[in-house]
Amino acid sequence: MKVAVIGTGYVGLVSGTCLAERGHHVTCVDIDEDKVQKLRKGISPIYEPRLEELITKNIEAERLMFTSDYAEAVPGADVILIGVGTPPNPDGSANTRYVEEAASQIAKHLTRDSIVANKSTVPVGTRDLVEQIIRKHYAGEFYVVSNPEMLREGCAVRDFLEPARIIIGSESDHAAEGMLKLYESFDCPKLVMHPRSAELTKYAANSFLATKISFINEVAHLAEEVGADIEEVAEGIGSDPRIGKQFLRAGLGWGGSCFPKDVRAMLQMGEAAKQRMPIIEAAFEVNDKARKRVVDRLEKAMGSLTDKQVAILGLAFKNNTDDTRESAAIALVEHFLRAGARVTAYDPKAEIHDATLTERMHRHESLYEACRGADVVVIATEWDEFRALDLGQLKEMMHGDILMDARNLLNQQEATEKGFRYFRVGK
Ligand code: UDX
Repeated sequence: MKVAVIGTGYVGLVSGTCLAERGHHVTCVDIDEDKVQKLRKGISPIYEPRLEELITKNIEAERLMFTSDYAEAVPGADVILIGVGTPPNPDGSANTRYVEEAASQIAKHLTRDSIVANKSTVPVGTRDLVEQIIRKHYAGEFYVVSNPEMLREGCAVRDFLEPARIIIGSESDHAAEGMLKLYESFDCPKLVMHPRSAELTKYAANSFLATKISFINEVAHLAEEVGADIEEVAEGIGSDPRIGKQFLRAGLGWGGSCFPKDVRAMLQMGEAAKQRMPIIEAAFEVNDKARKRVVDRLEKAMGSLTDKQVAILGLAFKNNTDDTRESAAIALVEHFLRAGARVTAYDPKAEIHDATLTERMHRHESLYEACRGADVVVIATEWDEFRALDLGQLKEMMHGDILMDARNLLNQQEATEKGFRYFRVGK
């Protein structure tokens, strides 16, 4: 099929590239000319495993093109995907101005009965808004559907190519059939539903997953007090298929570009609809507590953190990404700085955009150098290289002996044998 994709951020670029990989002819539009030039050379603006390889492969196969001109993408397209950002408003609600702008640009270039599918995470009812905007400029037939994206950073390509399910929100059978054809080669359940249900599904999925993590963290905090081990408890409850083992890793809680934003937007939707959502409110509260609790435990173990040197291993919000948006690790850095500690840090990929933060902490290129002279080392992101830490070497570099494994990556016995006072979450 002939596909146009509006926006080359995480959602748009991954969707466009993967649909080209599945044989469609895809043109991606982005208003940022510089980005378009780089993409044409196969350079991805984001780090995502396999993405650059697939961009290059599909450009060479002439199935993937990039442009800053809607006129080169929209006319004649079977399906037009909107994959632009929906940044939060000050009150936490999702700002749909880029979606609206994309809709009016699409409208100006429509030439046929295309299906416009919204992949961006948008408040319930946005499908209707997009239809109204297009209708203002275009008198012909067209369809607008909701097709929310569920990609995880760090495995977005795999998530797109091997999804657990595809959600299609359409009231038109014809448009739903068109979307099913787009995803014909994808082997997974395809759920066609009302557009408002599809829009809410995305928020409900992310809020549920965030709540699941907060739940296990809440139980972890109790486990610490009553002498249980959260890893064993998670295994125990996760073995019930109704609960499931995934997303039961206790630690520093959830961060990133999606969960906090989407959970806040869900709360905002509840407020607008005069529906309080106490479970989701509590998920936030527990998430903040997960970070604060790590600092409190260390403060208790050391007496005071004033002038202590704390080495933070990991700054990204999770492994396999350079993204530090709403990262729990960064929240920890801020907590330690407020407590009067001196902070050094190491992360293999993290991009820090807050210049004041880089001035207030000292970031090292080498993991072990970051730990030189440290009183305490805190593992804050679940990078694989931290699982393979040389604990002997780490201990030699340090001044103190406290190792706070806030992502539960290491073996307790091994750490204790190497002479560490070892702390982990939920034990
Ligand atoms: C998430 C959703 O998984 C994805 O479906 C959605 O479309 C976008 O938001 P992402 O933000 O990339 O994806 O990260 P994810 O891998 O889900 O992790 C989110 C956060 O939760 C991370 O900070 C991670 O460290 C934390 N986490 C995850 C836990 O603390 N424990 C877990 O068991 C799982």
